[in-house]
Amino acid sequence: MRNPPERYLQTLREHFAQAPQWFDAKAGASEAAKAASGAALTTYQDGQDTAFQRWFHFKEAFSPEFVTAAVSSLGYRPQHVIDPFGGSGTSAITSQLLSIDATTVEVNPFLADVIKAKVSPLTADMLRSAAADFLARLQGTPADLGRLAHLPSTFVEAEGKDRWIFPSDVAGRLSQYLACIDAIEDIDVQRFFRVVLGAILVDCSNVYVNGKGRRYRGAWKLNQPTTEKLDEHFGRQFNTSFEDVLRFERRPRSRVAVIHGDSRTALRQVETPADLIVFSPPYPNSFDYTDIYNVELWVLGYIGCAADNTKLRNETLRSHVQIRRGYDAPVGESTTLTRTLSALQDCRAALWDSSIPEMVGAYFRDLELVLEQSKRLLVSTGRVMMVVGDSRYANVRIEVATVLAELARSMGFGQVTIKEVRQMRSSAQQGGEYQLAESIVELRA
Ligand SMILES: C[S@@+](CC[C@H](N)C(=O)[O-])C[C@H]1O[C@@H](n2cnc3c(N)ncnc32)[C@H](O)[C@@H]1O
Repeated sequence: MRNPPERYLQTLREHFAQAPQWFDAKAGASEAAKAASGAALTTYQDGQDTAFQRWFHFKEAFSPEFVTAAVSSLGYRPQHVIDPFGGSGTSAITSQLLSIDATTVEVNPFLADVIKAKVSPLTADMLRSAAADFLARLQGTPADLGRLAHLPSTFVEAEGKDRWIFPSDVAGRLSQYLACIDAIEDIDVQRFFRVVLGAILVDCSNVYVNGKGRRYRGAWKLNQPTTEKLDEHFGRQFNTSFEDVLRFERRPRSRVAVIHGDSRTALRQVETPADLIVFSPPYPNSFDYTDIYNVELWVLGYIGCAADNTKLRNETLRSHVQIRRGYDAPVGESTTLTRTLSALQDCRAALWDSSIPEMVGAYFRDLELVLEQSKRLLVSTGRVMMVVGDSRYANVRIEVATVLAELARSMGFGQVTIKEVRQMRSSAQQGGEYQLAESIVELRA
């Protein structure tokens, strides 16, 4: 540890109560051990008040405590942590706060920017002066709906439409924000502003988004967002994220590489060995993250046309059947997977999409690719820790942890253990009971 300032130590203790023992000699051994057991700590329960988690509401994020517990479980201070499925960047920012080098890969360009914004060398002074310039520029920038002309037709209110995500005056205000963000010269500052806007977009729209996709709010036509609401939310979110920049301004700056790409191929470019490879991939439950973050991707300009959307979907893990693509099965051996795929094929007619058996096989091939690279990169004392969840289709349970453990053994990982952390509720069609396990699969070289 490079003598971090006392203020940093305090704030870290406040937000990351279970920092590893080597981080803080005063921390109790039992606390660290409790955290290392992983129970119920994998996902963040309520990140609203947690530094950096509150930059963007990301339901599936790790809790920082889980990452610190994973680091702590190594029993020594790691040099390098890799997360191939970055999401909102919990592994990256937690590693940085603990002064550990990190690499993370994220396929979604908006989420990759969320991570970059969190770990970039911003200062409160830079943001203060950028905010003053931004507000001054906003006054003199006219609304220009032409800026949003690329958006799908349901996005902006116009005559003849019966549904729209943004009223036309809010869309106009958004166009002003976007123009002023583009005018910011410093790339880190520009990204910070874009992420702030991304964090409030859905709240300032007529829709809400959950695991099932996008839905219109009840009585939305009577309660539409206003430009005042947009201004207020932007200001509030700016202040929240700014506060974390200010508090952690003098944190140790370890090297954090954020790779915007597809981890199935992007990991090949990573050369530095890792002590810990920790991740939670999408679960094979047909939930497509491209849909969930569609409003942010389109409005912020990460997606400019339908082809961009398809390209992004093609780069995501084969955990859904939103687009048709090639399906290949893992090369390693898993008797559980063989049995599962044959059970799925037997009930193909009862499945809501006939490609589900092949999608499930391909899902494990994708994770096998990530594990191949993980094996190459893992140091002999290191660990891979994967948080994975089971799925179920027509009463066939996809035992993800068991299949991955079998594949990992056939790839030559030395020690393979599975720890169940909680039971998840299955979908309403399946009775909605708690019957799907979420587990941590731990692999050693
Ligand atoms: C469960 S989330 C990870 C959450 C993360 N642990 C956190 O704390 O925020 C899975 C992430 O994997 C990303 N993803 C999906 N396919 C990917 C791919 N092929 N390469 C890299 N990331 C991918 C999704 O966009 C999503 O953000």
